[in-house]
Amino acid sequence: MISGHRGAAALAPENTLAGLQAAARSHLQWVEMDTQLCADLIPVMFHDAKVNRCTNGRGKVRELDLAQLKALDAGCWFGPQFTHERILTLDEALNACHEYGLNLNLEIKVHDDHEAEILVQQVAQTIASNGISADELVLSSFSANAVSHCQKMMPHIRRGLICDKLPKNLFALAGQLELFSLHLDYHLLNASLANQIKQAGLDLHIWTMNQPELVDQFYQWGVDIIITDNPPLLLKA
Ligand code: G3P
Ligand code: MG
Repeated sequence: MISGHRGAAALAPENTLAGLQAAARSHLQWVEMDTQLCADLIPVMFHDAKVNRCTNGRGKVRELDLAQLKALDAGCWFGPQFTHERILTLDEALNACHEYGLNLNLEIKVHDDHEAEILVQQVAQTIASNGISADELVLSSFSANAVSHCQKMMPHIRRGLICDKLPKNLFALAGQLELFSLHLDYHLLNASLANQIKQAGLDLHIWTMNQPELVDQFYQWGVDIIITDNPPLLLKA
């Protein structure tokens, strides 16, 4: 299966409604997006700690309130046709995913591990008040601490650990956190590791894989979901 990355980052500005629409147009079942807190503790969809790269503003997401973030243009940096895209709240993203029939791999983007708990708390509250069903979601994070808070606060929602290097205690950690899935940088994967992961009963997701010529190989190794910036390119393969 193919999942969009940050919406569909090669086709539309990342983590925006336009990205979700592009993913939906590719008839994807899954999309990955990042969430973090703004100054008024509302979870918003954004990857970087600062707004500088992906909006026309400057400053840290965590230090700007929702009104300030909503005033920014989150699309013009990507292309003039995306001018007026706004930063989404998590609640808005959940509504859009549900409307477009997209399941959401929600990456809990922890820029400061001291904030993992409050971030997960606010995400849990948003998910509960939104009413989206658990089977439309997977929660994932690079922070094992954040995943552990998810386990405590939202035990009914599937959890994945994202890895850009392999922890020594990978399978013990997967057991402790009762993981559904591992989300690996695709450079880390080989046939034997893929086999161990599948033997352990874990779903295997890889990111951010934009090379159509490698699709076959990864499927043969048992990869369940390829997270890519360019879904149509990989779907052709
Ligand atoms: O979910 C996997 C991938 O999104 C992790 O990397 O930096 O794009 O959030 P990043
Ligand atoms: Mg991400």
